[in-house]
Amino acid sequence: MLQALRSLLLLLVLVAGTVWMTVNASQAAAQPAPGKASPEEICKTCHADRVESYLASKHGQKGNTRGPSNQGGCLACHTDAALEHAAKGGGRGVGGIFGFNNPKISIDAKTKTCLACHSADRHLAFWDSGKHRKNDVACNNCHSLHGTPGPGASFALQQPNPTVAPYETTVRQLQYETCTSCHRQIRSQLLKPSHHPIIEGRVKCSDCHNPHGALSPMMVKNESINQLCTSCHAEKRGPYIWEHPPVEENCLTCHNPHGSNHNRLLAEKAPNVCQDCHDAAQHPGSVYDATGGFKPIPPRNTTPNTRLIARGCVNCHNNLHGSNAPAMRGKFFLR
Ligand code: HEC
Ligand code: HEC
Ligand code: HEC
Ligand code: HEC
Ligand code: HEC
Ligand code: HEC
Ligand code: HEC
Ligand code: HEC
Ligand code: HEC
Ligand code: HEC
Repeated sequence: MLQALRSLLLLLVLVAGTVWMTVNASQAAAQPAPGKASPEEICKTCHADRVESYLASKHGQKGNTRGPSNQGGCLACHTDAALEHAAKGGGRGVGGIFGFNNPKISIDAKTKTCLACHSADRHLAFWDSGKHRKNDVACNNCHSLHGTPGPGASFALQQPNPTVAPYETTVRQLQYETCTSCHRQIRSQLLKPSHHPIIEGRVKCSDCHNPHGALSPMMVKNESINQLCTSCHAEKRGPYIWEHPPVEENCLTCHNPHGSNHNRLLAEKAPNVCQDCHDAAQHPGSVYDATGGFKPIPPRNTTPNTRLIARGCVNCHNNLHGSNAPAMRGKFFLR
């Protein structure tokens, strides 16, 4: 039985060797001769944990013909086809081993190793024009190919940064933890009282950005900011009978995408956010104090000023994103 298994294994190695040779004749010469131990078996003596995590990952799946497991195993990424590193007893920079944490190896060379297989992926099409490539961020700064998968976690993301959520609503590995290890200023925005539910795990950075690069400013996923926002907030897309020009133009005129100290992700609170533009005479542009009610000033009265309390201008101009109500109520976004 054991003998039969062994010869089956040998046959597999032979077949794999032949495939490898036809695929890549130049490197094939340096491959271990068929019948000898596979790289995995050799590496395992010193890097058992790495072999295990590799085999548990998509890259280690034998069924995937385009994957590393059919293209040299460990050596598809770590090169050293002559197995010199192992023969010399291992060590940093020993033999022809390609170490992703080796600062002497250029970022470009590291990235190229991955792009050799991934350059045709659609989501990587704009890698070269992205800010990450241009700022020397390598694939392995975000991806941890040997990470141990936790519950529901992707093996593929680095998690150098513990959660910043004051309370945990999930045991999943959240993507923002990878991003905010570098993007500290975004990290602080996520903790403001009003924020997109990113730390709660309902929205991901990559719902709005393509970390692999995009042609749009800020590597935003859609062609325009408004297309991005209305892809989730469809009810704000319109068209409306009565449209409010700044809403059609850019949601970020009034909102912050990540987090804000004002309600509803507002960049400023009402009435200020409205008065940046509405500075004409009468109530839209008036300077307000605690009293004044709805009557023009003067004469003053003692009713609390409806434009300052609660939602400010939005107390009355409820549908400021656009309205389909008839006549004046719609025109002035009153409902
Ligand atoms: C005899 C033990 C041994 C064997 C066999 C071995 N290694 Fe290593 N390897 C080491 C040691 C020791 C280090 C240094 C680790 C450290 O300093 O943390 C190392 C480092 C590495 C590094 C980092 C290199 C660098 O320059 O940063 C990589 C990648 C690596 N090994 C991959 C492999 C692969 C792939 C194989 C199988 C082909 C393999 N090793 C076989 C002992 C071994
Ligand atoms: C798809 C590419 C890929 C394959 C295949 C792969 N690795 Fe790695 N390996 C990486 C990357 C990227 C890193 C650096 C990031 C990290 O530490 O997770 C790494 C890190 C390592 C390290 C630690 C190096 C250091 O600097 O300390 C060792 C050891 C290692 N790999 C061994 C192996 C072994 C053994 C195999 C085969 C069982 C293997 N790798 C297969 C990409 C790969
Ligand atoms: C020999 C070819 C090859 C190399 C080299 C390679 N990959 Fe892959 N990778 C694949 C294949 C094939 C898949 C599986 C794709 C699929 O099933 O759609 C994959 C999947 C992935 C995934 C998705 C994992 C998941 O759980 O969904 C990530 C992330 C990834 N690779 C990153 C990298 C990085 C980073 C490098 C460089 C360190 C790299 N790959 C090198 C072939 C390769
Ligand atoms: C700035 C961080 C970052 C960098 C740098 C990065 N990635 Fe990714 N990558 C991600 C994130 C986040 C995801 C998960 C996207 C999602 O969940 O939609 C991902 C997903 C992937 C996937 C799986 C896509 C899928 O649809 O299954 C592959 C493959 C991949 N990356 C390869 C690469 C390669 C190759 C490089 C280098 C050229 C690279 N990545 C650089 C963050 C990064
Ligand atoms: C709801 C969509 C959305 C989500 C989710 C999101 N962003 Fe953004 N982000 C944007 C938009 C839109 C901009 C462009 C802002 C501008 O043009 O002023 C931006 C800008 C940025 C910028 C550059 C400008 C700046 O403020 O520094 C960085 C960096 C950034 N985002 C990182 C992240 C990270 C990291 C995450 C996850 C923690 C994330 N974003 C989640 C929409 C989003
Ligand atoms: C290893 C550090 C690092 C990690 C991790 C990282 N970034 Fe970045 N990111 C940078 C650098 C450096 C820049 C360019 C300088 C800047 O704009 O801050 C950048 C720029 C950006 C920008 C702005 C692009 C522009 O056009 O100005 C966005 C958006 C962004 N990153 C999103 C992400 C997301 C989403 C993640 C997680 C998936 C992530 N980053 C992870 C380092 C990182
Ligand atoms: C991936 C989907 C998605 C995208 C894209 C998106 N949002 Fe959101 N947004 C959400 C979710 C989910 C909530 C939380 C809703 C809830 O709690 O009921 C939310 C909440 C909000 C809120 C209310 C926040 C509060 O404190 O109540 C505002 C304002 C908002 N988004 C504006 C925007 C803007 C502006 C954009 C474009 C930059 C945008 N959103 C893009 C999913 C998205
Ligand atoms: C002229 C300023 C302004 C612009 C531009 C604007 N908003 Fe708002 N938005 C507000 C104000 C003010 C509130 C708070 C309303 C309240 O108090 O109920 C709000 C609330 C929201 C809310 C949460 C409450 C709700 O009504 O669902 C969402 C979601 C939202 N805006 C999305 C968007 C999107 C998407 C865009 C772009 C298409 C956009 N906003 C453009 C001012 C604006
Ligand atoms: C970026 C500039 C800008 C901001 C900020 C802004 N608006 Fe407007 N608003 C306009 C423009 C432009 C019009 C169209 C004026 C016209 O048609 O004569 C308009 C029209 C209106 C109208 C209808 C007036 C009319 O005569 O048809 C109301 C009501 C209104 N805005 C309320 C608000 C409120 C409330 C806010 C704050 C939540 C706000 N606006 C923020 C630019 C702005
Ligand atoms: C108590 C309800 C209420 C509040 C609060 C309120 N409005 Fe109005 N607004 C109205 C009504 C009703 C109209 C319809 C025309 C009219 O009667 O003047 C109107 C008309 C307008 C118009 C168009 C006519 C004009 O006079 O130019 C603008 C612009 C406007 N409001 C902006 C604002 C802004 C900005 C704020 C906050 C600073 C605000 N409104 C607060 C009820 C209100």
